[in-house]
Amino acid sequence: MQIEHNKSLKAYNTFGIDVIAHHFYQIDSKTQLLEYLKQNNGSPVFVLGGGSNLLLTKPIEATVLQINLKGISVVQEDDQFVIIKVMAGENWHETVQYCVNNNYGGIENLSLIPGNIGAAPIQNIGAYGVELKDVFASCEAVNRITGEIVNFSKEDCQFGYRDSYFKNEGENLFIITSVQLRLSKKDHTIKIDYGAIKQTLDAKQISNPSIKEVSDAVIEIRQSKLPDPAKIGNSGSFFKNPVIENKAFETFHNKFPEAPYYQVDKQHFKVPAGWLIEQAGFKGKRFGEAGVHDKQALVLVNHGNATGTQIWELAQLIQHKIKEEFNINIVPEVTII
Ligand code: EPU
Repeated sequence: MQIEHNKSLKAYNTFGIDVIAHHFYQIDSKTQLLEYLKQNNGSPVFVLGGGSNLLLTKPIEATVLQINLKGISVVQEDDQFVIIKVMAGENWHETVQYCVNNNYGGIENLSLIPGNIGAAPIQNIGAYGVELKDVFASCEAVNRITGEIVNFSKEDCQFGYRDSYFKNEGENLFIITSVQLRLSKKDHTIKIDYGAIKQTLDAKQISNPSIKEVSDAVIEIRQSKLPDPAKIGNSGSFFKNPVIENKAFETFHNKFPEAPYYQVDKQHFKVPAGWLIEQAGFKGKRFGEAGVHDKQALVLVNHGNATGTQIWELAQLIQHKIKEEFNINIVPEVTII
């Protein structure tokens, strides 16, 4: 067992925040994980995947387990569908590319989302009209205390908008070790109505796109709006888009008829937090080393040497301003430690 001590996590979180892990252990196999949990006897662990949905504001005292389980395999298939099993430490985007190259359809709209497979069910990742839950078959997880291996069905996971069982009752109880996805092999359901996908394809005169063409369009759109964490530290959307009840939405809509919105169901409307933050004057603004991205106001950035606390202070300033100007509460999408 190779436990490292006082290790900087700067390279392990896409915000590029330099905090120390008191103890750090890279997990390369399930056996290694089970053995660690058995010896560890229930003392606190901090599970780290790709570190792409995380804002670290202080040193981590619990032992950091960096989940590095690798492998993709086909577990079941017929003419129409395939079920693949992907180990938790596989990179999400590389998995999407593996699927696109094998003509497995369903996750092409989720191209270029940072992070690893193991984190995908926790917040039910989504983009451009598709969410993980649309293709999710099941996942396997290990109970952090007992070491018991548990299989979760889609229902067990209780997926919602950027939400699941693992963010609620199941928080900090399990370590996801693999995820199974059910994907189409032919007659793919192509979803291009959301956002700028159709427009991007039209510009290329593509009217009947393949999953590869949809994936390429999504990559182009994301690259034009979202900062590359390899160049500037960030965690994608920092806040969730607020979901507002009918009555409050009516008041908001009457006051700001130009604001974009989507109806979620009969009682609820979703308003883009990026629009609110831009209207409040934060887009492209810099506050020392912390800032708001100039092309998508929902993304907070680390200009180089920001601490987690500086980014969190900026986030709180934005929350207060949005409450003051629009009477809307926006809450973080990223996990704040
Ligand atoms: N908008 C602005 N100003 C901005 C940003 C957005 O006015 O600075 C407006 C846009 O003009 C548009 C609306 O807000 O009318 C929505 O913007 P966009 O399509 O960029 O999507 P979003 O709602 O801001 C969500 C996800 C993204 C995902 C995109 C595309 C959340 C919290 N975010 O963003 O997910 O890529 O839709 O589907 O739901 C992530 O989770 O890290 C992420 C990037």
